[in-house]
Amino acid sequence: MKITIIGTGYVGLVTGACLAELGNDVFCLDVDHNKIEILNSGGIPIHEPGLDEIVARNRAAGRLVFSTDVAASVAHGDVQFIAVGTPPDEDGSADLQYVLAAARNIGKHMKGFKVIVDKSTVPVGTAERVAAAIQDELAQCASTATFSVVSNPEFLKEGAAVEDFMRPDRIVIGCDDNSLGNLARAQMKKLYTPFNRNHERTYWMDVRSAEFTKYAANAMLATRISFMNELANLADQVGVDIEAVRHGIGSDPRIGHSFLYAGCGYGGSCFPKDVQALERTAQDYGQDLLILHAVEAVNEKQKQVLGAKIMKRFGSDLNGRHFAIWGLAFKPNTDDMRAASSRVLLSELLRAGATVAVYDPVSMAEAKRVFALDFADTPELLANIHYATNPMDALDQADALAIVTEWKAFRSPDFEQVKAKLKQAVIFDGRNLFEPAVMTELGVEYHGIGRSV
Ligand code: NAD
Ligand code: UGA
Repeated sequence: MKITIIGTGYVGLVTGACLAELGNDVFCLDVDHNKIEILNSGGIPIHEPGLDEIVARNRAAGRLVFSTDVAASVAHGDVQFIAVGTPPDEDGSADLQYVLAAARNIGKHMKGFKVIVDKSTVPVGTAERVAAAIQDELAQCASTATFSVVSNPEFLKEGAAVEDFMRPDRIVIGCDDNSLGNLARAQMKKLYTPFNRNHERTYWMDVRSAEFTKYAANAMLATRISFMNELANLADQVGVDIEAVRHGIGSDPRIGHSFLYAGCGYGGSCFPKDVQALERTAQDYGQDLLILHAVEAVNEKQKQVLGAKIMKRFGSDLNGRHFAIWGLAFKPNTDDMRAASSRVLLSELLRAGATVAVYDPVSMAEAKRVFALDFADTPELLANIHYATNPMDALDQADALAIVTEWKAFRSPDFEQVKAKLKQAVIFDGRNLFEPAVMTELGVEYHGIGRSV
Protein backbone atom coordinates (compact mmCIF):
# COMPACT_ATOMS: atom_id res chain seq x y z
CA MET A 1 0.00 0.00 0.00
CA LYS A 2 1.10 3.61 -0.51
CA ILE A 3 1.61 5.25 2.87
CA THR A 4 2.68 8.73 3.93
CA ILE A 5 3.98 9.46 7.41
CA ILE A 6 3.88 13.11 8.46
CA GLY A 7 6.44 13.72 11.21
CA THR A 8 9.54 11.52 11.20
CA GLY A 9 10.28 11.51 14.94
CA TYR A 10 10.29 8.53 17.32
CA VAL A 11 6.83 7.35 16.34
CA GLY A 12 6.84 8.44 12.70
CA LEU A 13 10.22 6.90 11.87
CA VAL A 14 9.43 3.61 13.61
CA THR A 15 5.97 3.44 12.00
CA GLY A 16 7.33 4.29 8.55
CA ALA A 17 10.26 1.88 8.73
CA CYS A 18 8.16 -1.00 10.09
CA LEU A 19 5.37 -0.53 7.53
CA ALA A 20 8.02 -0.48 4.76
CA GLU A 21 9.51 -3.67 6.21
CA LEU A 22 6.09 -5.29 5.65
CA GLY A 23 6.27 -4.39 1.96
CA ASN A 24 4.46 -1.06 1.88
CA ASP A 25 5.69 1.88 -0.16
CA VAL A 26 6.36 4.54 2.49
CA PHE A 27 7.05 8.27 2.18
CA CYS A 28 8.23 9.96 5.40
CA LEU A 29 7.86 13.73 5.61
CA ASP A 30 9.38 16.11 8.13
CA VAL A 31 9.74 19.88 8.38
CA ASP A 32 13.13 19.41 10.03
CA HIS A 33 15.61 19.57 7.11
CA ASN A 34 18.46 18.44 9.31
CA LYS A 35 16.62 15.24 10.32
CA ILE A 36 15.77 14.42 6.69
CA GLU A 37 19.36 15.07 5.65
CA ILE A 38 20.68 12.68 8.31
CA LEU A 39 18.23 9.99 7.15
CA ASN A 40 19.02 10.54 3.48
CA SER A 41 22.73 10.19 4.14
CA GLY A 42 22.22 6.80 5.79
CA GLY A 43 22.14 7.96 9.41
CA ILE A 44 19.49 7.72 12.14
CA PRO A 45 18.62 10.79 14.24
CA ILE A 46 17.63 8.73 17.33
CA HIS A 47 18.97 5.72 19.20
CA GLU A 48 16.45 2.88 18.95
CA PRO A 49 17.59 -0.76 18.96
CA GLY A 50 17.17 -2.51 15.59
CA LEU A 51 15.82 0.56 13.80
CA ASP A 52 18.96 1.41 11.80
CA GLU A 53 19.00 -1.96 10.00
CA ILE A 54 15.31 -1.75 9.06
CA VAL A 55 15.72 1.80 7.79
CA ALA A 56 18.84 0.91 5.77
CA ARG A 57 17.29 -2.24 4.27
CA ASN A 58 14.07 -0.55 3.19
CA ARG A 59 15.77 2.60 1.88
CA ALA A 60 18.01 0.39 -0.23
CA ALA A 61 14.95 -1.48 -1.51
CA GLY A 62 13.34 1.86 -2.48
CA ARG A 63 10.35 1.27 -0.19
CA LEU A 64 11.22 4.04 2.27
CA VAL A 65 11.93 7.63 1.29
CA PHE A 66 12.54 10.72 3.41
CA SER A 67 11.65 14.19 2.21
CA THR A 68 10.58 17.70 3.17
CA ASP A 69 8.37 18.00 0.05
CA VAL A 70 4.82 18.49 1.36
CA ALA A 71 3.01 18.32 -2.01
CA ALA A 72 4.82 15.09 -2.93
CA SER A 73 4.01 13.58 0.46
CA VAL A 74 0.29 14.26 0.06
CA ALA A 75 0.28 12.97 -3.50
CA HIS A 76 2.04 9.74 -2.43
CA GLY A 77 -0.04 8.12 0.31
CA ASP A 78 -3.57 6.74 0.03
CA VAL A 79 -3.21 6.58 3.81
CA GLN A 80 -1.72 9.66 5.50
CA PHE A 81 -0.46 9.12 9.06
CA ILE A 82 -0.12 12.23 11.21
CA ALA A 83 2.67 11.45 13.71
CA VAL A 84 3.83 14.93 14.73
CA GLY A 85 4.48 16.07 18.31
CA THR A 86 1.68 17.10 20.69
CA PRO A 87 3.67 18.88 23.42
CA PRO A 88 1.99 20.41 26.45
CA ASP A 89 0.60 23.89 26.03
CA GLU A 90 1.06 26.42 28.87
CA ASP A 91 -2.16 25.21 30.56
CA GLY A 92 -1.19 21.54 30.28
CA SER A 93 -3.51 20.76 27.35
CA ALA A 94 -2.06 19.11 24.24
CA ASP A 95 -0.78 21.73 21.80
CA LEU A 96 -2.39 20.72 18.50
CA GLN A 97 -0.70 23.29 16.28
CA TYR A 98 1.52 20.72 14.54
CA VAL A 99 -1.36 18.27 14.03
CA LEU A 100 -3.59 20.97 12.57
CA ALA A 101 -0.78 22.34 10.37
CA ALA A 102 -0.28 18.80 9.00
CA ALA A 103 -4.03 18.53 8.40
CA ARG A 104 -4.11 21.84 6.53
CA ASN A 105 -1.21 20.74 4.33
CA ILE A 106 -3.12 17.59 3.42
CA GLY A 107 -6.24 19.64 2.60
CA LYS A 108 -4.25 22.03 0.41
CA HIS A 109 -2.76 19.33 -1.81
CA MET A 110 -5.03 16.29 -1.75
CA LYS A 111 -6.94 14.86 -4.72
CA GLY A 112 -9.36 11.92 -4.71
CA PHE A 113 -10.01 9.95 -1.48
CA LYS A 114 -7.54 9.81 1.42
CA VAL A 115 -7.56 8.05 4.77
CA ILE A 116 -6.16 10.42 7.39
CA VAL A 117 -4.82 8.62 10.46
CA ASP A 118 -4.23 10.41 13.75
CA LYS A 119 -1.24 8.46 15.12
CA SER A 120 -0.16 11.26 17.45
CA THR A 121 -1.59 11.20 20.97
CA VAL A 122 -4.46 13.67 20.77
CA PRO A 123 -7.38 14.60 23.02
CA VAL A 124 -10.93 13.53 22.44
CA GLY A 125 -12.47 15.55 19.63
CA THR A 126 -9.23 16.11 17.70
CA ALA A 127 -10.29 14.00 14.72
CA GLU A 128 -13.22 16.37 14.29
CA ARG A 129 -10.83 19.35 14.36
CA VAL A 130 -8.52 17.65 11.86
CA ALA A 131 -11.50 17.01 9.58
CA ALA A 132 -12.63 20.63 9.89
CA ALA A 133 -9.13 21.93 9.03
CA ILE A 134 -8.92 19.71 5.93
CA GLN A 135 -12.48 20.60 4.89
CA ASP A 136 -11.68 24.28 5.24
CA GLU A 137 -8.67 23.95 2.89
CA LEU A 138 -10.68 21.90 0.40
CA ALA A 139 -13.41 24.55 0.40
CA GLN A 140 -10.86 27.28 -0.29
CA CYS A 141 -9.75 25.58 -3.50
CA ALA A 142 -13.27 24.34 -4.36
CA SER A 143 -11.99 20.76 -4.27
CA THR A 144 -14.36 17.79 -4.34
CA ALA A 145 -11.79 15.44 -2.80
CA THR A 146 -13.07 13.23 0.04
CA PHE A 147 -11.47 11.77 3.15
CA SER A 148 -12.15 10.09 6.46
CA VAL A 149 -10.22 10.68 9.69
CA VAL A 150 -9.28 7.60 11.71
CA SER A 151 -7.81 7.43 15.22
CA ASN A 152 -5.02 4.86 15.54
CA PRO A 153 -3.03 5.74 18.68
CA GLU A 154 0.44 4.28 19.16
CA PHE A 155 1.41 2.26 22.25
CA LEU A 156 5.11 1.59 21.57
CA LYS A 157 7.73 2.15 24.26
CA GLU A 158 11.01 3.85 23.48
CA GLY A 159 13.96 1.48 23.68
CA ALA A 160 11.69 -1.38 22.53
CA ALA A 161 9.87 0.53 19.80
CA VAL A 162 10.54 -1.79 16.85
CA GLU A 163 9.60 -4.90 18.83
CA ASP A 164 6.48 -3.20 20.21
CA PHE A 165 5.40 -1.99 16.77
CA MET A 166 6.04 -5.32 15.04
CA ARG A 167 4.41 -7.41 17.79
CA PRO A 168 1.72 -5.16 19.24
CA ASP A 169 -0.40 -6.50 22.08
CA ARG A 170 -3.25 -4.49 20.61
CA ILE A 171 -4.09 -2.26 17.67
CA VAL A 172 -6.72 0.32 18.50
CA ILE A 173 -8.59 1.80 15.55
CA GLY A 174 -11.46 4.23 15.74
CA CYS A 175 -13.46 4.83 12.55
CA ASP A 176 -16.59 6.77 11.68
CA ASP A 177 -19.72 4.73 11.16
CA ASN A 178 -20.60 6.07 7.69
CA SER A 179 -19.74 5.27 4.09
CA LEU A 180 -16.38 7.11 4.03
CA GLY A 181 -15.61 5.66 7.46
CA ASN A 182 -16.27 2.19 6.05
CA LEU A 183 -13.86 2.84 3.18
CA ALA A 184 -11.23 3.94 5.72
CA ARG A 185 -11.91 0.86 7.88
CA ALA A 186 -11.29 -1.40 4.86
CA GLN A 187 -7.94 0.30 4.13
CA MET A 188 -6.84 0.08 7.77
CA LYS A 189 -7.87 -3.57 7.92
CA LYS A 190 -5.75 -4.32 4.84
CA LEU A 191 -2.76 -2.38 6.19
CA TYR A 192 -2.79 -4.18 9.55
CA THR A 193 -3.56 -7.68 8.20
CA PRO A 194 0.06 -8.90 8.67
CA PHE A 195 -0.14 -8.07 12.40
CA ASN A 196 -3.29 -10.15 12.89
CA ARG A 197 -2.13 -13.41 11.29
CA ASN A 198 -2.01 -15.60 14.40
CA HIS A 199 -4.78 -13.94 16.32
CA GLU A 200 -6.86 -10.83 15.94
CA ARG A 201 -5.25 -7.92 17.77
CA THR A 202 -7.38 -5.09 16.46
CA TYR A 203 -9.96 -3.41 18.65
CA TRP A 204 -12.39 -1.50 16.45
CA MET A 205 -14.26 1.33 18.09
CA ASP A 206 -15.60 4.82 17.51
CA VAL A 207 -13.08 7.61 17.00
CA ARG A 208 -13.54 9.35 20.35
CA SER A 209 -13.16 6.13 22.34
CA ALA A 210 -9.93 5.36 20.47
CA GLU A 211 -8.55 8.82 21.27
CA PHE A 212 -9.47 8.37 24.93
CA THR A 213 -8.03 4.84 25.16
CA LYS A 214 -4.52 6.19 24.58
CA TYR A 215 -4.72 8.66 27.47
CA ALA A 216 -6.40 6.10 29.71
CA ALA A 217 -3.54 3.64 29.11
CA ASN A 218 -0.74 6.11 29.84
CA ALA A 219 -2.55 7.56 32.86
CA MET A 220 -3.14 4.07 34.27
CA LEU A 221 0.55 3.15 33.89
CA ALA A 222 1.71 6.45 35.40
CA THR A 223 -0.70 5.90 38.30
CA ARG A 224 0.75 2.47 39.04
CA ILE A 225 4.26 3.91 39.11
CA SER A 226 3.39 6.84 41.36
CA PHE A 227 1.45 4.54 43.70
CA MET A 228 4.45 2.21 43.98
CA ASN A 229 6.72 5.19 44.59
CA GLU A 230 4.52 6.40 47.45
CA LEU A 231 4.51 2.91 48.93
CA ALA A 232 8.32 2.78 48.55
CA ASN A 233 8.73 6.04 50.44
CA LEU A 234 6.56 4.65 53.23
CA ALA A 235 8.51 1.39 53.10
CA ASP A 236 11.67 3.41 53.80
CA GLN A 237 10.02 4.83 56.92
CA VAL A 238 8.62 1.60 58.31
CA GLY A 239 11.49 -0.77 57.53
CA VAL A 240 9.93 -2.70 54.65
CA ASP A 241 11.52 -3.93 51.40
CA ILE A 242 9.43 -2.64 48.47
CA GLU A 243 11.01 -5.25 46.17
CA ALA A 244 9.58 -8.05 48.33
CA VAL A 245 6.23 -6.25 48.30
CA ARG A 246 6.39 -5.90 44.50
CA HIS A 247 6.74 -9.67 44.13
CA GLY A 248 4.08 -10.24 46.75
CA ILE A 249 1.44 -8.17 45.01
CA GLY A 250 2.51 -8.67 41.39
CA SER A 251 1.87 -12.41 41.64
CA ASP A 252 -1.85 -11.62 41.93
CA PRO A 253 -2.98 -11.83 38.27
CA ARG A 254 -5.44 -9.03 38.95
CA ILE A 255 -2.43 -6.78 39.65
CA GLY A 256 0.30 -8.32 37.45
CA HIS A 257 4.06 -7.76 37.57
CA SER A 258 4.53 -4.98 34.98
CA PHE A 259 5.07 -1.34 35.82
CA LEU A 260 5.37 -1.89 39.55
CA TYR A 261 8.99 -0.79 39.83
CA ALA A 262 9.58 1.93 42.39
CA GLY A 263 12.31 4.35 41.38
CA CYS A 264 13.35 7.97 41.06
CA GLY A 265 10.28 8.97 39.06
CA TYR A 266 8.95 8.49 35.57
CA GLY A 267 10.18 10.67 32.73
CA GLY A 268 9.99 10.69 28.97
CA SER A 269 8.01 12.66 26.47
CA CYS A 270 4.67 11.03 27.16
CA PHE A 271 3.61 10.12 30.72
CA PRO A 272 4.15 13.64 32.10
CA LYS A 273 2.39 15.42 29.22
CA ASP A 274 -0.39 12.87 28.77
CA VAL A 275 -1.31 12.87 32.47
CA GLN A 276 -1.53 16.66 32.33
CA ALA A 277 -3.53 16.67 29.10
CA LEU A 278 -6.09 14.21 30.48
CA GLU A 279 -6.46 16.35 33.62
CA ARG A 280 -7.02 19.32 31.34
CA THR A 281 -9.66 17.50 29.26
CA ALA A 282 -11.49 16.64 32.47
CA GLN A 283 -11.38 20.27 33.61
CA ASP A 284 -12.78 21.37 30.26
CA TYR A 285 -15.79 19.19 31.06
CA GLY A 286 -16.09 20.48 34.64
CA GLN A 287 -14.54 17.41 36.27
CA ASP A 288 -11.47 17.26 38.47
CA LEU A 289 -9.44 14.06 38.03
CA LEU A 290 -8.15 14.13 41.61
CA ILE A 291 -6.17 10.95 41.28
CA LEU A 292 -4.12 12.39 38.41
CA HIS A 293 -3.21 15.52 40.39
CA ALA A 294 -1.72 13.15 42.95
CA VAL A 295 0.04 11.04 40.31
CA GLU A 296 1.72 14.14 38.95
CA ALA A 297 2.60 15.62 42.35
CA VAL A 298 4.06 12.33 43.58
CA ASN A 299 6.19 12.08 40.45
CA GLU A 300 7.54 15.62 40.77
CA LYS A 301 8.56 14.80 44.35
CA GLN A 302 9.96 11.42 43.39
CA LYS A 303 12.36 12.99 40.93
CA GLN A 304 13.87 14.74 43.97
CA VAL A 305 14.17 11.59 46.06
CA LEU A 306 17.83 10.88 45.23
CA GLY A 307 18.82 14.50 45.88
CA ALA A 308 17.00 14.38 49.23
CA LYS A 309 18.73 11.13 50.23
CA ILE A 310 22.13 12.53 49.23
CA MET A 311 21.56 15.72 51.24
CA LYS A 312 20.33 13.76 54.23
CA ARG A 313 23.63 11.84 54.12
CA PHE A 314 26.06 14.67 53.21
CA GLY A 315 24.19 17.80 54.35
CA SER A 316 22.48 20.43 52.24
CA ASP A 317 25.69 22.38 51.56
CA LEU A 318 27.56 20.28 49.00
CA ASN A 319 30.42 22.73 48.35
CA GLY A 320 33.62 20.75 47.94
CA ARG A 321 31.69 17.52 47.29
CA HIS A 322 31.91 15.61 44.03
CA PHE A 323 29.36 13.04 42.80
CA ALA A 324 29.04 10.56 39.95
CA ILE A 325 25.79 9.95 38.05
CA TRP A 326 25.30 6.78 36.00
CA GLY A 327 22.44 7.03 33.51
CA LEU A 328 21.08 10.22 31.96
CA ALA A 329 18.38 9.01 29.53
CA PHE A 330 14.82 8.77 30.92
CA LYS A 331 15.02 4.98 30.54
CA PRO A 332 17.50 2.45 29.12
CA ASN A 333 18.03 1.78 25.40
CA THR A 334 17.24 5.30 24.30
CA ASP A 335 19.11 8.58 24.09
CA ASP A 336 15.89 10.50 24.87
CA MET A 337 16.34 12.89 27.80
CA ARG A 338 12.91 14.52 27.74
CA ALA A 339 11.73 14.95 31.37
CA ALA A 340 14.55 12.64 32.53
CA SER A 341 14.99 12.36 36.32
CA SER A 342 18.76 12.80 35.84
CA ARG A 343 18.16 16.46 34.96
CA VAL A 344 16.47 17.14 38.30
CA LEU A 345 19.18 15.37 40.32
CA LEU A 346 22.01 17.05 38.43
CA SER A 347 20.47 20.48 38.95
CA GLU A 348 19.97 19.87 42.69
CA LEU A 349 23.55 18.71 43.21
CA LEU A 350 25.08 21.58 41.22
CA ARG A 351 22.88 24.19 42.92
CA ALA A 352 23.94 22.85 46.33
CA GLY A 353 27.58 23.50 45.35
CA ALA A 354 28.78 20.07 44.19
CA THR A 355 30.66 19.13 41.06
CA VAL A 356 29.29 16.15 39.12
CA ALA A 357 30.73 13.58 36.70
CA VAL A 358 28.08 12.08 34.44
CA TYR A 359 28.02 9.00 32.23
CA ASP A 360 25.43 7.36 29.96
CA PRO A 361 26.10 4.60 27.41
CA VAL A 362 24.37 6.41 24.50
CA SER A 363 23.02 9.82 25.46
CA MET A 364 26.24 11.78 26.09
CA ALA A 365 25.84 13.98 22.99
CA GLU A 366 22.16 14.58 23.74
CA ALA A 367 23.08 15.29 27.40
CA LYS A 368 25.55 18.00 26.38
CA ARG A 369 22.88 19.61 24.19
CA VAL A 370 20.18 19.41 26.88
CA PHE A 371 22.38 20.57 29.79
CA ALA A 372 23.58 23.55 27.75
CA LEU A 373 19.92 24.62 27.56
CA ASP A 374 19.06 23.68 31.18
CA PHE A 375 21.97 25.75 32.51
CA ALA A 376 22.01 28.48 29.86
CA ASP A 377 21.50 31.15 32.58
CA THR A 378 24.04 29.63 34.97
CA PRO A 379 27.23 28.90 33.00
CA GLU A 380 29.13 28.55 36.29
CA LEU A 381 27.02 25.45 37.06
CA LEU A 382 27.38 24.08 33.53
CA ALA A 383 31.16 24.30 34.01
CA ASN A 384 30.89 21.99 37.03
CA ILE A 385 29.67 19.05 34.92
CA HIS A 386 32.36 16.59 33.84
CA TYR A 387 31.47 14.22 30.97
CA ALA A 388 33.11 10.86 31.65
CA THR A 389 34.02 8.51 28.82
CA ASN A 390 33.18 5.33 30.72
CA PRO A 391 31.35 4.40 33.95
CA MET A 392 34.49 3.78 36.00
CA ASP A 393 36.10 7.12 35.06
CA ALA A 394 32.98 8.88 36.29
CA LEU A 395 33.66 7.49 39.78
CA ASP A 396 37.14 8.99 40.21
CA GLN A 397 37.33 10.70 43.62
CA ALA A 398 33.52 10.93 43.91
CA ASP A 399 31.93 11.10 47.36
CA ALA A 400 29.16 8.80 46.11
CA LEU A 401 27.61 7.23 43.02
CA ALA A 402 23.98 7.90 42.08
CA ILE A 403 22.28 5.58 39.57
CA VAL A 404 19.36 7.10 37.66
CA THR A 405 18.85 4.80 34.63
CA GLU A 406 18.88 1.00 34.77
CA TRP A 407 21.13 0.33 31.77
CA LYS A 408 22.26 -3.34 31.60
CA ALA A 409 25.87 -2.10 31.64
CA PHE A 410 25.36 -0.88 35.23
CA ARG A 411 23.86 -4.08 36.62
CA SER A 412 27.00 -6.01 37.51
CA PRO A 413 29.95 -3.66 37.86
CA ASP A 414 33.27 -4.75 39.36
CA PHE A 415 32.49 -3.60 42.90
CA GLU A 416 36.14 -3.79 43.99
CA GLN A 417 36.96 -1.28 41.24
CA VAL A 418 33.92 0.83 42.18
CA LYS A 419 35.14 0.94 45.79
CA ALA A 420 38.68 1.77 44.75
CA LYS A 421 37.57 4.65 42.55
CA LEU A 422 35.07 6.26 44.94
CA LYS A 423 36.34 8.35 47.84
CA GLN A 424 33.99 6.31 50.02
CA ALA A 425 31.85 3.35 48.99
CA VAL A 426 28.42 4.98 48.95
CA ILE A 427 25.77 4.21 46.31
CA PHE A 428 22.38 5.88 45.87
CA ASP A 429 20.44 3.56 43.60
CA GLY A 430 17.40 5.21 41.97
CA ARG A 431 16.38 1.99 40.17
CA ASN A 432 16.98 -0.68 42.83
CA LEU A 433 19.53 -2.59 40.78
CA PHE A 434 21.29 -4.27 43.69
CA GLU A 435 20.44 -6.30 46.79
CA PRO A 436 21.00 -4.33 50.00
CA ALA A 437 22.31 -7.41 51.85
CA VAL A 438 24.87 -8.11 49.09
CA MET A 439 25.99 -4.48 49.17
CA THR A 440 26.49 -4.65 52.94
CA GLU A 441 28.58 -7.80 52.51
CA LEU A 442 30.69 -6.00 49.89
CA GLY A 443 31.23 -3.11 52.29
CA VAL A 444 29.12 -0.66 50.28
CA GLU A 445 26.86 1.84 52.01
CA TYR A 446 23.71 1.36 49.94
CA HIS A 447 20.66 3.59 49.63
CA GLY A 448 17.90 2.17 47.42
CA ILE A 449 14.31 3.29 46.98
CA GLY A 450 12.04 1.73 49.60
CA ARG A 451 14.65 -0.81 50.69
CA SER A 452 15.61 0.38 54.17
CA VAL A 453 14.89 -2.97 55.80
P1 NAD B 1 9.01 13.77 17.95
O1 NAD B 1 9.15 15.13 18.49
O2 NAD B 1 10.12 12.80 18.10
O3 NAD B 1 8.68 13.85 16.37
C1 NAD B 1 7.74 14.70 15.82
C2 NAD B 1 8.25 15.12 14.43
O4 NAD B 1 7.24 15.84 13.74
C3 NAD B 1 9.46 16.05 14.49
O5 NAD B 1 10.52 15.49 13.76
C4 NAD B 1 8.96 17.35 13.85
O6 NAD B 1 9.94 18.04 13.14
C5 NAD B 1 7.87 16.83 12.93
N1 NAD B 1 6.85 17.79 12.51
C6 NAD B 1 6.24 18.76 13.23
N2 NAD B 1 5.34 19.41 12.47
C7 NAD B 1 5.37 18.84 11.24
C8 NAD B 1 4.64 19.05 10.04
N3 NAD B 1 3.67 19.97 9.94
N4 NAD B 1 4.93 18.29 8.97
C9 NAD B 1 5.88 17.34 9.05
N5 NAD B 1 6.58 17.08 10.16
C10 NAD B 1 6.33 17.81 11.26
O7 NAD B 1 7.67 13.19 18.58
P2 NAD B 1 7.33 11.66 18.93
O8 NAD B 1 7.99 11.27 20.21
O9 NAD B 1 7.51 10.81 17.74
O10 NAD B 1 5.77 11.80 19.26
C11 NAD B 1 4.83 12.03 18.24
C12 NAD B 1 3.44 11.76 18.80
O11 NAD B 1 3.33 10.37 19.13
C13 NAD B 1 3.12 12.52 20.08
O12 NAD B 1 1.74 12.83 20.07
C14 NAD B 1 3.40 11.50 21.17
O13 NAD B 1 2.63 11.73 22.33
C15 NAD B 1 2.96 10.22 20.50
N6 NAD B 1 3.63 9.01 21.01
C16 NAD B 1 4.97 9.02 21.27
C17 NAD B 1 5.59 7.85 21.70
C18 NAD B 1 7.07 7.82 22.01
O14 NAD B 1 7.52 6.82 22.54
N7 NAD B 1 7.85 8.84 21.72
C19 NAD B 1 4.84 6.67 21.85
C20 NAD B 1 3.48 6.71 21.56
C21 NAD B 1 2.88 7.88 21.14
C1 UGA C 1 5.21 4.92 27.59
C2 UGA C 1 4.22 3.74 27.50
O1 UGA C 1 4.77 2.62 28.20
C3 UGA C 1 3.93 3.37 26.05
O2 UGA C 1 2.96 2.34 25.99
C4 UGA C 1 3.41 4.61 25.33
O3 UGA C 1 3.17 4.33 23.96
C5 UGA C 1 4.42 5.73 25.45
O4 UGA C 1 4.67 6.01 26.86
C6 UGA C 1 3.93 7.00 24.84
O5 UGA C 1 2.75 7.25 24.80
O6 UGA C 1 4.82 7.73 24.44
P1 UGA C 1 7.84 5.22 27.29
O7 UGA C 1 7.59 6.56 27.89
O8 UGA C 1 8.61 5.13 26.03
O9 UGA C 1 6.43 4.49 27.00
O10 UGA C 1 8.60 4.30 28.34
P2 UGA C 1 8.15 3.44 29.62
O11 UGA C 1 8.82 2.14 29.55
O12 UGA C 1 6.69 3.44 29.78
O13 UGA C 1 8.80 4.26 30.81
C7 UGA C 1 8.36 5.55 31.15
C8 UGA C 1 8.99 5.98 32.45
O14 UGA C 1 8.44 5.24 33.54
C9 UGA C 1 10.50 5.77 32.52
O15 UGA C 1 11.10 6.91 33.11
C10 UGA C 1 10.67 4.56 33.41
O16 UGA C 1 11.87 4.57 34.13
C11 UGA C 1 9.48 4.73 34.35
N1 UGA C 1 9.03 3.45 34.95
C12 UGA C 1 8.51 2.47 34.15
C13 UGA C 1 9.09 3.29 36.32
O17 UGA C 1 9.54 4.18 37.07
N2 UGA C 1 8.63 2.12 36.86
C14 UGA C 1 8.11 1.12 36.11
O18 UGA C 1 7.70 0.08 36.68
C15 UGA C 1 8.05 1.31 34.71
